[in-house]
Amino acid sequence: MDPMERPVGIFDSGVGGLSVARAIRRLMPQLDLIYVGDSGHVPYGGHDLAFISGRARLIVDFLVGRDARAIVIACNTATAAAASDLRRTLSIPVVAMEPAVKPAAAATRTGIVGVLATAGTLASARFAGLLDRFGEGISVLTEPCPDLVTLVEQGELEGPETTRRIAAHVRPLVDAGADTLILGCTHFSFLRLSIEREAGPGIAVIDTGPAVARQLMRVLARDAADRSAGSGRVDIFTSGDTSAFSATSRRLWPELPPASQLPED
Ligand code: DGL
Repeated sequence: MDPMERPVGIFDSGVGGLSVARAIRRLMPQLDLIYVGDSGHVPYGGHDLAFISGRARLIVDFLVGRDARAIVIACNTATAAAASDLRRTLSIPVVAMEPAVKPAAAATRTGIVGVLATAGTLASARFAGLLDRFGEGISVLTEPCPDLVTLVEQGELEGPETTRRIAAHVRPLVDAGADTLILGCTHFSFLRLSIEREAGPGIAVIDTGPAVARQLMRVLARDAADRSAGSGRVDIFTSGDTSAFSATSRRLWPELPPASQLPED
């Protein structure tokens, strides 16, 4: 295949990373993407990091087998589990993501920042390292939100139950003085408007998806490949139920094609 037409591979535990894929699509409409949602094993937040690292390896082998020219880990939890290993062992670029502690520390005026993420991300050595580097002088409040991952997987972006659960996570952070909230899980981008509504005016909500898309653009340009040579197609694979995945993903992004089954091994 012409190197300029090779796709970029993206993966997440489920539909959450589609928020990152959408940001990439906005920035580079012609780029071909292959997306894997590991929904047979969602939520990653409930697994240990060694298990997630094994899943990441299988998925990336599949993407490399489909000629991916770069990998985007569209998942904070999988980044904590597998980014270092993948970077060490792959010969193609790996773009990963982590909670935006650095920009939040720069933006906060109260000196209090809230992080909505999975328990796995918040307990990881990688997150502890982020706090060491960028958290000095501010107070970082962490909030694991596994139920919000489940709601997004079910396509429940609105309604009384979703509003109630968002409030249960966001209100204590705001009441404690946080003026900046980090979406530290890609699923939560799809809840952004409701989170902003709950947080109220004057509270900044930071999503990392657009920054990841810009980083991918820099990486592809560094590779000297014309980043706009593809046809703009998105192929979707899931390790879970294809019709359920297709139904949810098309609620989040109506133009997507139906999902195909990720081959076992
Ligand atoms: N979307 C993922 C993240 O960014 C993981 C959610 C989950 O599967 O628990 O952390």
